[in-house]
Amino acid sequence: MSVEKICTKKTKFSFLKKILIRWFFGVILVVTSLIILAPVLLRSYGDLILTKMFFQTWSRYYPWIDLSKPDLFRLNAANVYEQTEANVTVGMWYILPSTVKIDQNLPTLADHLKQYVNSNDLPIIMYLHGQDGTRATHYRSNHYRVMSSFGNHIIALDYRGYGDSVGVPSVHGVVHDVLHVFNVIRKVCPENPIVIWGHSMGTGVSLWTMNNIFQNHTKVKKPVGLVLEAPFYNTIEGLVSYPLTRVLKINPYFMQAALDALTTAKLDFPNNELISFLPLPIVIIHSEDDAIIPYHHAHLIENYVKTHRDKNLPPIRLITVPRAARCGHNHIYSYSKFQEIVSDLSFLKRLPVS
Ligand SMILES: *[C@@H]1O[C@H](CO)[C@@H](O)[C@H](O)[C@H]1NC(C)=O
Ligand SMILES: *[C@@H]1O[C@H](CO)[C@@H](O)[C@H](O)[C@H]1NC(C)=O
Repeated sequence: MSVEKICTKKTKFSFLKKILIRWFFGVILVVTSLIILAPVLLRSYGDLILTKMFFQTWSRYYPWIDLSKPDLFRLNAANVYEQTEANVTVGMWYILPSTVKIDQNLPTLADHLKQYVNSNDLPIIMYLHGQDGTRATHYRSNHYRVMSSFGNHIIALDYRGYGDSVGVPSVHGVVHDVLHVFNVIRKVCPENPIVIWGHSMGTGVSLWTMNNIFQNHTKVKKPVGLVLEAPFYNTIEGLVSYPLTRVLKINPYFMQAALDALTTAKLDFPNNELISFLPLPIVIIHSEDDAIIPYHHAHLIENYVKTHRDKNLPPIRLITVPRAARCGHNHIYSYSKFQEIVSDLSFLKRLPVS
């Protein structure tokens, strides 16, 4: 090999090394600036930043995915829309067992319910998803596929601002959307057992929704059960253990700025109190290896409930998914005992698929 060739090789290598070193220091610079500036940014734009971080309608949403075609996600489902308020329209899927033939020409949720709910004791599950993505996000589609294979009817909506749903999310707004859909179901199916299944942020939405139903919807039949998958204790605890917070709180000024911003952002989810208070059976399912909402939230809830829930109310049950199952925050449907758990929920007793 000539001396010349060795030299060009060397230059190429050092060029690559330079880029990598620059990139490395670039990342360090960005992270450090973020850690230093976070409290200042929170003091000025805390309301906006926390709302955007809480309702991550922008994250993991791929606008080129056609949400109107659930069959693209290997689901036997109808896609429909409901206007829940002036200027607010929410998209949803009504997922059915594969044995049910869907008539895609039916225009509304009510039409579909009239068509497929042919018995008063068939449970209907409302699925309330977490803070990012859409009703289609792969692990949610997997969850519906597994649940519907047990014979369940599931209605999964995208709150306002998510996916192809129109509007701007807020705590009051997303709860309003869920209540609207609940009322549509109740109108067509006044007797059917309704179960709400919330995941992650959706556990907070579920609890506010239930609270409203139990206090304000006095004339309708109440839901029979609530499943909270990977719930958070309350907004403050959720914020404290959130992965990004764990980095940013290196800065001693961060936590107080974040907590102050939280108060103005109106992101109030007192899950622990609502769990203690709601008069229906509640099942909590949490993975030991949850990295987003760590497992200790389940224990915090358990301890709070022990001292605050009236002994005469229906019981709360905590189901722990072991670390070894490696289900994390999003994949509890893949747990080997998932079917056993679901068929054991008395309020989810499935009817034989006809
Ligand atoms: C709906 O949108 C229109 C046009 O953007 C606006 O003028 C109107 O105030 C909105 N209505 C509500 C209830 O938000
Ligand atoms: C019940 O409805 C009233 C009036 O719409 C509302 O102000 C209140 O917050 C509702 N209660 C609950 C628990 O959501």
